[in-house]
Amino acid sequence: METVNQLLDSIKDVGRDAMRGGYSRAAYSTPELDLRHWFIEQAQQRGLQVETDRNGIIWAWWGTPQDGALVTGSHLDSVPGGGAFDGPLGIASALAAVDILKTRGLDSKNTGPHRSLAITVFPEEEGSRFGVACLGSRLLTGAIDADKALNLRDVDGNTFADIARGNRLDPGRVGRDPEAIARIGDFVELHVEQGKGLGHGGPAIAVGSSILGHGRWKLSVSGQGNHAGTTLMADRADPMVAAAQIVVAVRDTAARQPDARATVGRLTPVPGGTNVIASRVDLWLDARHPDDAVTAQLISAIYGVAREIAASEGCAVTLTEESYSGTVHFDPGLSRRIGELLPGAPVLASGAGHDAGVLAGHVPSAMLFVRNPSGISHSPEEYVADEDAAAGALALADVLEGLL
Ligand code: GLV
Ligand code: MN
Ligand code: MN
Repeated sequence: METVNQLLDSIKDVGRDAMRGGYSRAAYSTPELDLRHWFIEQAQQRGLQVETDRNGIIWAWWGTPQDGALVTGSHLDSVPGGGAFDGPLGIASALAAVDILKTRGLDSKNTGPHRSLAITVFPEEEGSRFGVACLGSRLLTGAIDADKALNLRDVDGNTFADIARGNRLDPGRVGRDPEAIARIGDFVELHVEQGKGLGHGGPAIAVGSSILGHGRWKLSVSGQGNHAGTTLMADRADPMVAAAQIVVAVRDTAARQPDARATVGRLTPVPGGTNVIASRVDLWLDARHPDDAVTAQLISAIYGVAREIAASEGCAVTLTEESYSGTVHFDPGLSRRIGELLPGAPVLASGAGHDAGVLAGHVPSAMLFVRNPSGISHSPEEYVADEDAAAGALALADVLEGLL
């Protein structure tokens, strides 16, 4: 029996990023693979039966693998320089919850409607390696076309097909998996809260209501690559200068739209030399709004301004959608039952995306959030107090026991 804090403590050195701070645990990198092995060992120590499906999702079964099971899970990959809790908190809490259920005398031969419980680990939830968030659950559900996924490339030029093959997955079998979806009767994901919805003093656990619609777009600004010393200022078509103005325009356009969020968190100049005027700059835009039609208008407005800016600098710009997920409302029946099992827990909407949101279109899904007092996330400063993590594992155990 281990507490969630002991479990998190046992992985605290995996994937630390000395340069960025925090953790860099990209999907199928050495740190994430180490965490996957850690999870498999932990599951086996608890007598769970472990299998990895054709999309690289790990399933750890307490009870016989079968259709309609109760499934809880999250992810072990991180954003570059991320915190300790986004993903691993849900996995460690699931393992701790199994321990708690065992101390309550439950065993895998329970007679409830779900009959079995499984813990799942989804790969590439953050989309930090191949650019598409929740890649594992999107493949499982068919929300992304398998060929499109297999051709995604990481920054080193590896395709997802290469990486899948290197991790003993058969690229020919990657994609929609109706048998695996049928195994999920209800899905519950516990996750660190990533906003300020749970302040000091009040309840530490909330029940999720919805996930904000979100998407990713690539803006490519092209100009004339040239020499930084010999090219007169008046003779330049510098895509970096256009890109800088586009970043500001993204902020300003979103700021005028109530409830919108838009971010450029990544920008790559090509070729990228101090004394080189770039020939191209790629910017990645993350935009979110509760109303999908408003998101579409926002993107079209941003693209319109970007084209004007690029033209004024003698450059051109293209826009490509890389992924999109509309706003998701969790299953009201499942959320109500969870609310009854956790009396007094507030209900919170999530501004962040989750595998539970992708699954929600296919199976009843719900989420629990654990207090993160500052709301800071996707940062080394993400924080969950030990007592709140323990309360989260207990709440998850109560929910699983109640739903089983
Ligand atoms: C995932 O954490 C996201 O919301 O991008
Ligand atoms: Mn997450
Ligand atoms: Mn995240």
